[in-house]
Amino acid sequence: MDRIRIAGGGKLHGTIPISGAKNATLPLMIASLLTDQTLILDNVPRLADVGLLQRILGNHGVDVMVGGKRPGESQYDGQTLHISAARIVDTTAPYELVSKMRASFWVIAPLVARIGEAKVSMPGGCAIGTRPVDFLIMALAQLGVSIEIEGGYVIARAPNGLKGGEIDFPKVTVGGTHTALMAASLASGTTVIENAAREPEITDVADCLNKMGAKITGAGTSRIVVEGVPKLNGARHSVVSDRIETGTYAMAVAMTGGDVMLENARPEQLQAALEVLTQAGVDITPTNSGIRVARNGAGIAPVEVTTAPFPGFPTDLQAQLMALMTRAKGTSRITETIFENRFMHVQELARLGARIQLAGETATIEGVDKLQGAQVMATDLRASVSLVIAALAAEGETMVNRVYHLDRGFERLEDKLSACGATIERISG
Ligand code: EPU
Repeated sequence: MDRIRIAGGGKLHGTIPISGAKNATLPLMIASLLTDQTLILDNVPRLADVGLLQRILGNHGVDVMVGGKRPGESQYDGQTLHISAARIVDTTAPYELVSKMRASFWVIAPLVARIGEAKVSMPGGCAIGTRPVDFLIMALAQLGVSIEIEGGYVIARAPNGLKGGEIDFPKVTVGGTHTALMAASLASGTTVIENAAREPEITDVADCLNKMGAKITGAGTSRIVVEGVPKLNGARHSVVSDRIETGTYAMAVAMTGGDVMLENARPEQLQAALEVLTQAGVDITPTNSGIRVARNGAGIAPVEVTTAPFPGFPTDLQAQLMALMTRAKGTSRITETIFENRFMHVQELARLGARIQLAGETATIEGVDKLQGAQVMATDLRASVSLVIAALAAEGETMVNRVYHLDRGFERLEDKLSACGATIERISG
């Protein structure tokens, strides 16, 4: 298993190219199941989760062709996928695959909408909480899908097609909104989705579905209206940039000090996080090509933050902010409202010398003058990268174990950071 070794202490200076968003790429790839024509996706990040979803889709009979590098492209330019679901050979998504990546449960929507049936394993619990799929099932049922649960599988059937309906989510859900959008696109009649997720990845998927011939309005607001169409076509779409990768590197620069240009970053996608960083004493400058992040001289000021669905402060940046606040000059409070168990990084940050008290959903972080390198590991992607951020400011050497978590969601993390002067290397084996 690979590990990452970091010698902390240096500032970051330079440019970091931001990749395409993992959490847009995954539903976009799944949307390919809605049509027998080819969907071409540009700016796809090179991530383990993309490879895994390729295998999962392959099981349904989907061909994925990865485009070659074009002249003039750098190693950081995203890849192009040509995805063709001309013939669905299998409508079952087995436990062995779905349990490896929760988002693969979402194949249930395009499969039942296009083929009239799907049998998809329930994903089960995960490191950040119980994460049920009841809202996703409710959304499909509202569109006339009959649902049975048998042997750990959700069996969805709609032999006569889906019918538009009202879907009112009791709680904002990204996966529920993706599911509803995909299913409603091929339903007959109109679907209204209330309390829809407003995340930029939802808007990106809706844009792509519209290019494929869907009729979706209101994406990016809490009320989305979908006029169903009988058939969707192929299209070409470029994946939106990754706001969580952007926020992560912004926190890394805030932690070490220095001056870094985050190329291709889109400030409007992470306004809440940028405001928190500004409060913490970081200089944030949106430019034509991205976001410039700098911290020179001033210490890190403590903040009080509560995670919330977009446009609130994202849960996917909670661990990284906590890492940053371990070095703040004072006491910070971070409340996690999306996932009840997303504090696995607390114990590991403590190994580096952080002082964090947990009480229910709230972590109280007392800033310390210095962190000290240690052996650490984490159980999920964002928790792992929070340890990298802490390690960049720790004295001595930190070894981050279980790097496969990082590879799920961060493309060439060690290359991007070392290009800005960090002492960081991957140790294979
Ligand atoms: N929920 C239910 N029932 C459901 C669905 C969700 O109770 O049927 C609850 C969840 O347990 C959670 C809340 O609703 O408390 C919100 O969950 P949501 O459905 O929005 O999460 P998700 O779609 O499973 C996506 C991202 C996560 C991100 C969350 C929240 C992808 C592939 N995953 O998950 O990303 O944290 O939205 O923004 O888009 C990550 O990238 O590290 C990651 C975990």
